[in-house]
Amino acid sequence: MLDKLKELQEQHRRAEEGGGAERRQKQHEASKWTARERIQYLLDEGSFEEMDKLVEHRCTDFGMEKQRYPGDGVVTGAGRIDGRLVFVFSQDFTVFGGSLSETVAEKICKIMDLAMKVGAPIIGLNDSGGARIQEGVASLGGYADIFLRNTLASGVIPQISAIMGPCAGGAVYSPAITDFIVMVKDTSYMFVTGPDVVRTVTHEDVTMDELGGAMTHNATSGVAHFAVADDAECLHTIRELLSFLPSNNMEDAPRRPAADPWNRTDEQLNHVVPDDPNKAYDMRDIIRSVADDNYFFEIHRHFAKNLLVGFARLDGHPVGIVANQPNWLAGTLDISASVKGARFVRFCDAFNIPLITFEDVPGFLPGMAQEHGGIIRHGAKLLFAFAEATVPKITVITRKAYGGAYCVMSSKHVRTDLNYAFPSAEIAVMGPEGAINILYRNGLRSSQKAEDLRAEKIEEYRAKFATPYVAARRGFIDEIIEPQMTRAKLITGLRMLQNKKETNPPKKHSNIPL
Ligand code: HXC
Repeated sequence: MLDKLKELQEQHRRAEEGGGAERRQKQHEASKWTARERIQYLLDEGSFEEMDKLVEHRCTDFGMEKQRYPGDGVVTGAGRIDGRLVFVFSQDFTVFGGSLSETVAEKICKIMDLAMKVGAPIIGLNDSGGARIQEGVASLGGYADIFLRNTLASGVIPQISAIMGPCAGGAVYSPAITDFIVMVKDTSYMFVTGPDVVRTVTHEDVTMDELGGAMTHNATSGVAHFAVADDAECLHTIRELLSFLPSNNMEDAPRRPAADPWNRTDEQLNHVVPDDPNKAYDMRDIIRSVADDNYFFEIHRHFAKNLLVGFARLDGHPVGIVANQPNWLAGTLDISASVKGARFVRFCDAFNIPLITFEDVPGFLPGMAQEHGGIIRHGAKLLFAFAEATVPKITVITRKAYGGAYCVMSSKHVRTDLNYAFPSAEIAVMGPEGAINILYRNGLRSSQKAEDLRAEKIEEYRAKFATPYVAARRGFIDEIIEPQMTRAKLITGLRMLQNKKETNPPKKHSNIPL
């Protein structure tokens, strides 16, 4: 028996070696941790249960039969984060560059299937040279098997992807289907075709980082949701993100005991919105003031800064926050903001996370670029997402709620449960200046008298419509609240809505305007 135990230990040791000491050192020199170091840091201490540690590839071409590494190019298994079950795969760049063989794909699919059966999140740590070149189509089939599982798991269990090295070619589509992507600055990149192919085809000279680095995908393409400094911050971000999420779509997100009094008021809130309607302010000040411990976990921070999305807690319960940001593009909705918001709203709705909307929106961003880029189609996504969502929904209008954007931003008319407004709210078809320009298009030619009349009419319009009272009289606003009371109002509202049940008509699936 002793001999057999020794052999088992030896097999484990070989698997834990990965691609060997030299390649592990190379990984460290590239400022990257190994697959196992990452798992160790990600999971609660001692909780990792590895699977398929001795699986080997079956390829015999190109001398591959002489190069076998137990476990092949990925480490897979289950573990705990804050005591909660998760499944994880971590691509091992020290074994054939973390490339995806048929057996690597089988290992990943095995834990994805288990995660679905038991209803636990799946976390993928990506660091791979792509399809295992020596295996050809077998590897491609493996990717497609993963893509199918990502798709079927969407909306059932949270799926989180970390990009901690290369992720290129069709391989990008697994993370792309998942709910959140975290990218490590300087060491990670994602692209469908690399700089060499780009140079040949379009004659554009571009570096890997410019084409698909962490900031490119966080700030420009919107593909990734977080840009982090290193592996440690990446794994820490995943742990924190999961703390806001339920394990699956049948559960509620975990409540954390709250020390922050539910009815805490904040007098400062009465002064955040400037009297001048054209003056900007930071909507984060309102979100932080209202949230437990003044903490807002922002997502997609670098992309479409005119709309804020992220998680906070109210009385310990996670909520999804969607908020116009008046200090960026005046808080207008454009294509990027609409898509960013729609995806987040749909995530929250799929996973039973109540939605809190803070609104200060002068309308959709005008212009050729927006119209030709399809703002009609993309803006419809945000409208569709809010309208379709059946989780508890509460909206607070802090200032402007103009035009179509008023309807879109979780208005009463799209089944929002509680709609509040600050006394500073202006709910109208458009701003006073624009309205008078149209109403008196032919009647106010330039003269001092006409100017005076114009100013008078603008004031008249402002007094009549740039307030929350017309909407409140119709019941489109449930209550005009003192800003300092916002936290208490939201928490009381969420308690009221705790057992909310609302369903959509039976259908195979909706047809969101993609
Ligand atoms: C097999 C691979 C590999 C791959 C890297 N390696 N990529 N082995 N299949 N796809 C091996 C290398 O031979 C090397 O082995 C080790 O991994 C480390 O690679 P290096 O090149 O030394 O590392 P580095 O300089 O950091 O460069 C990393 C890299 C580069 C940029 C990822 O390796 C590279 O360009 N690889 C090929 C990428 C590629 O074209 N993949 C196919 C894409 S198409 P040794 O033994 O020396 O350590 C695709 C389609 C997916 O993925 C479709 C899905 C639908």
